[in-house]
Amino acid sequence: MARLEIRNLAKRYGDFYAVRDVSLSIEDGEFLVLLGPSGCGKTTTLRMVAGFIEPSAGEVRLGGQDVTLLPPWRRNAGMVFQSYALFPHLTVAQNVAFGLEMRKLARPDIERRVEEVLALVRLAGYGDRLPRQLSGGQQQRVALARALAIRPDVLLLDEPLSNLDAKLRQEVRVEIRELQKKLGLTTVMVTHDQEEALTMADRLVVMNEGSVRQVGNQRDLYERPADRFVAGFVGRSTFLDGTIEAPGRFTSDGGLRLACTDGAPGKATLALRPERVEIAAQPLSGLDNDLPGTVEFVSYLGAQIDIHVRLSPMDRLVVQIANREGGFAPEVGQQVHVGWPASAGLVFAQ
Ligand SMILES: Nc1ncnc2c1ncn2[C@@H]1O[C@H](COP(=O)(O)OP(=O)(O)O)[C@@H](O)[C@H]1O
Ligand SMILES: [Mg+2]
Repeated sequence: MARLEIRNLAKRYGDFYAVRDVSLSIEDGEFLVLLGPSGCGKTTTLRMVAGFIEPSAGEVRLGGQDVTLLPPWRRNAGMVFQSYALFPHLTVAQNVAFGLEMRKLARPDIERRVEEVLALVRLAGYGDRLPRQLSGGQQQRVALARALAIRPDVLLLDEPLSNLDAKLRQEVRVEIRELQKKLGLTTVMVTHDQEEALTMADRLVVMNEGSVRQVGNQRDLYERPADRFVAGFVGRSTFLDGTIEAPGRFTSDGGLRLACTDGAPGKATLALRPERVEIAAQPLSGLDNDLPGTVEFVSYLGAQIDIHVRLSPMDRLVVQIANREGGFAPEVGQQVHVGWPASAGLVFAQ
């Protein structure tokens, strides 16, 4: 049985749907990430699960129980808010005790649990401090401790790393995943950061404009994106607009005739991953597609180099190559060939 189940959940503000018809089920111990651009409805979804926002339609089931109409403190969900939402005038210990007091635990139990979870997040001895006397990373851990103190059935994390600087963010990713595994916690994390999502998730849910676009693991989303949005949001793609003339034959709006593997005749978009495209000074033999082009822009990114190649007045594509010693390093203005197997192109009907 799924630990957390969301059925046809929706939230409407006037005529505007912040979330429309979201259904998900999260298994015991799973780390699920909701990934999507700002404003796509991630926070609204999470807050409906936690009970801070009342759904316009749909159902939330936690541990088999329908909790849709229960207030936050009557459902066993621990939430870490994006800005942490620590009470500034309460000490660390009082902040962590908050959910336990709402649930009316006995004082000695509260004290024991507060100590336990502060030790768990490596903040033993910080109980008497005020939040402002802590660093950003420590405040984040207090928020996590407060969510864990209630021994939640599900842990909900809303962009928990967004206020940390880049280096700390990398460390905290690992810390959160290790803690989650150690405790076997069923977790839903929300983020707009694809790298964060890909490195942390067991399974991902890509959202856009209030709806779920695709659910799957990293490989599913990258190799078989459900639509153009996912192909552009998870990993990178170059998009060529055009028409499928016949099965396996695509003509771009700029007049390029290309081989592809799938797609029904009609207007379509061909998406190419920059690292699946080859580039050379001479024609590329043995590939289904080989096109001449001109290098327009080169961006040096350390381990990799991105090369933007003009193929026609309307078609430009990005090729990513590894930065290897003695490797091919084209320069702006240079004539090159790019090529790829038909199977590298993802076709989306328009
Ligand atoms: N209380 C509200 N009233 C009206 N619109 C809202 C309200 N809360 C959120 N929205 C809108 O709903 C959409 C989804 O918001 P949110 O869930 O916060 O997105 P995300 O967390 O993915 O950035 C946004 O367009 C936002 O402006
Ligand atoms: Mg948000």
